Amino acid sequence: ISPSSKFANKKKKITKAEKLRMLQEEEERRLKEEEEARLKYEKEEMERFETERIEKEKWQQLEAKDLERRKEELEELNLLEGCYPEAEKLKRENRLLSRWNHYIRCDGSPDPLVPQEMNTFISLWKEETNETFEEVIEKSKLVLNLIEKLKLVLLETPPYDLQDKNVNQYQESIQELQELLHFKFNVATEILLRQASTLADLDSGNMEKIIQHENVTLYLWANLKKNPRYRSISFSETNIGFEIPRILATCDIALRLLHTRYDHVTPLCPVPRPLKVVQDPSTIIEPVKNQDTDIVKEAISKEDQEQSKQPGSESVMVHEEIKVNIVEPIIYNFFSDGQGEEESEAMKFEVEMKLLSETVSAAQLLLLENSCEKPEFFEANEVDLFQFTTLGGVYHVDILELPPQCKPVNGWMIVEILKEGLQKYKYPPETTEDFETENAFPPVEVMLQVQENVIFFEDPMVARWDPEGKHWRTDGISCVNYNSENRLVTFNLEAFGPITLIQDAHINMPYQSWELRPLEMNKVLLTVTTVFTEIQIQIKENLCMLASIKLKNKEHDSILKGKWMTPIPFIIALKEVGLNIFPTGHSHFYVVVNNKVPLVELKAYRQMALLSSAFAFSWSKWNLSCDSSKVVFQVKEHLNQEPDTEYPDWALLMFSGDRAQRLKINEYSETFSEALKEETEFHSTLYHMVKDFASGEAIEKIRSSNCQFVDSVCQMLLSTRLLSYS
Ligand SMILES: *[C@@H]1O[C@H](CO)[C@@H](O)[C@H](O)[C@H]1NC(C)=O
Ligand SMILES: *[C@@H]1O[C@H](CO)[C@@H](O)[C@H](O)[C@H]1NC(C)=O
Ligand SMILES: *[C@@H]1O[C@H](CO)[C@@H](O)[C@H](O)[C@H]1NC(C)=O
Repeated sequence: ISPSSKFANKKKKITKAEKLRMLQEEEERRLKEEEEARLKYEKEEMERFETERIEKEKWQQLEAKDLERRKEELEELNLLEGCYPEAEKLKRENRLLSRWNHYIRCDGSPDPLVPQEMNTFISLWKEETNETFEEVIEKSKLVLNLIEKLKLVLLETPPYDLQDKNVNQYQESIQELQELLHFKFNVATEILLRQASTLADLDSGNMEKIIQHENVTLYLWANLKKNPRYRSISFSETNIGFEIPRILATCDIALRLLHTRYDHVTPLCPVPRPLKVVQDPSTIIEPVKNQDTDIVKEAISKEDQEQSKQPGSESVMVHEEIKVNIVEPIIYNFFSDGQGEEESEAMKFEVEMKLLSETVSAAQLLLLENSCEKPEFFEANEVDLFQFTTLGGVYHVDILELPPQCKPVNGWMIVEILKEGLQKYKYPPETTEDFETENAFPPVEVMLQVQENVIFFEDPMVARWDPEGKHWRTDGISCVNYNSENRLVTFNLEAFGPITLIQDAHINMPYQSWELRPLEMNKVLLTVTTVFTEIQIQIKENLCMLASIKLKNKEHDSILKGKWMTPIPFIIALKEVGLNIFPTGHSHFYVVVNNKVPLVELKAYRQMALLSSAFAFSWSKWNLSCDSSKVVFQVKEHLNQEPDTEYPDWALLMFSGDRAQRLKINEYSETFSEALKEETEFHSTLYHMVKDFASGEAIEKIRSSNCQFVDSVCQMLLSTRLLSYS
């Protein structure tokens, strides 16, 4: 027997009494443990309660502190935000000045804003006949310019400065110019076709002509030989052209592909009007009376009325007055001490600025209002223009009746001119039965090229204009094929007329992330990253510029790169090349967004723009986690000019419009919490929030930011709506 088994034997002989004692001991220990746990729990509860109480107290203290200085902070913010009405005044003066400059330039071009001048221009042009295609193209420069100016006035003039009467007048002028221009191109096409036989190609015996210009390209083919085997029409070295069925190859027809880089077919979109009248317009204009701008305004309106009067010495005088007055009063008024008789002037100025400031805020808010009206019901195949945009202009694809040809007779050219002008050839003929049509009149194959400056992120869709329904539609088009390498689109077409390519308007929304970073004093870089692209925009003064565009991580060339433009033309230009990062009031029906309350969004953008000279802002994933009444983003002081790519010390800010606070969590935390960062307070404005951790230099930069610059940054933020569409 080994010693260990001896021991085991001993253990077995535990008595009953001992067993009982052990049980008792165990019971006692359990009770003791329970008691300890209870005490511990109570202590913890007490502690938790205590921390909560302290937290609450601290919070209340912070709230009290915030409340105490709230008025002061808001006043200070108000002072800084004075730059918005200030910038608005400058913009208004610039608008008047540019009209004035047009007037004194006296180059014979009409002022598109004066109805009489437009009417005269249009009727004089209507009287001109026999213009060749080249002549119409030459004229189109001025016409496109007038249309562009009118569109810009409609978009750039704030709603409170634009009367319904004027909106209608401008839109009518645009439409008339567009229609007349197209009519002129049709007439010029006819003139060209009459000479087709003299321009025939030696090889084929048919006429084949290309006229190419910046905005317009004409491809015209006249079927003079009517050779049934000649069915592939391909314009010189391009792949652009047609494949026609045998039945057409023997007809007296011409084929036209007229590509305009502009889109004069899609109806003009309605100009956004204020939802509610914020202010009686007269009270807004009134205080500006007898100020600089009105002199110009009066001068111009006087000229509007008295067109025929000679602009003699009187206008020179007015011009001098402008020069003196335009820059001075603002600076003067802003820095005057308001003493003595200047006091009432200063007060008047203050009232005026306050009114203007409210009007500007209302107009800015209008940009963020989501439409409640769901886009109306669409017919089958109708293109919803809230969802899609046309890109790269319009291709007028037509089969035309070949007009009688000029004939040389005894040294004269004789030509029969048809009264009814250029006629479309009816194909397929209307009278035939449907089942016959399909077999006897197959569709024409069209090959066209996507305009080189336009970016399609997906294969383009093809749509045709329905003149009766007045919309684009996608039926009657089949076998669409896109070759992205040579940018060729091929498709079968059953009904002729205007054709366009469309892309999803929201293809780059929602954004994946964004960043706004100072580059130097009064200059920032805005980067927006989407699924397909990274767009970088520089902003300075009242100008924006496309700095870089990346597709599949590769730098892409764009004609817009390096071109400084004012914000609205810039936004239009970006949209026109397919870079749409500008949601509309309807976009929320098409993009999954976590919309923020417009007023919160507005306040955030206005205050971010104010700080943008010295602070970088960036997207935060937490912004999605908080509710719609708050926004969360990252902030960092950023003074050095070198782009530092490592941003180690971003602060996470939460802002509700009325309260800014710094969060304890950071971008990499596990879960979202609204807890305050230790040792921080909250404030009523973003400016005062960052002031707690900003350097003196940064604050100095903020206080001396240029107001046009701040206004431009704010406008880009309002237009991209980074806080709602990321
Ligand atoms: C148009 O041109 C033709 C010949 O080129 C000429 O006979 C005719 O008078 C012109 N029409 C007008 C109205 O100028
Ligand atoms: C082309 O059209 C644009 C606007 O549509 C205009 O600004 C530009 O001047 C036009 N160019 C020419 C040469 O007509
Ligand atoms: C903020 O979150 C909303 C959803 O809550 C989102 O749509 C928006 O893009 C986000 N903005 C920022 C700051 O990332």
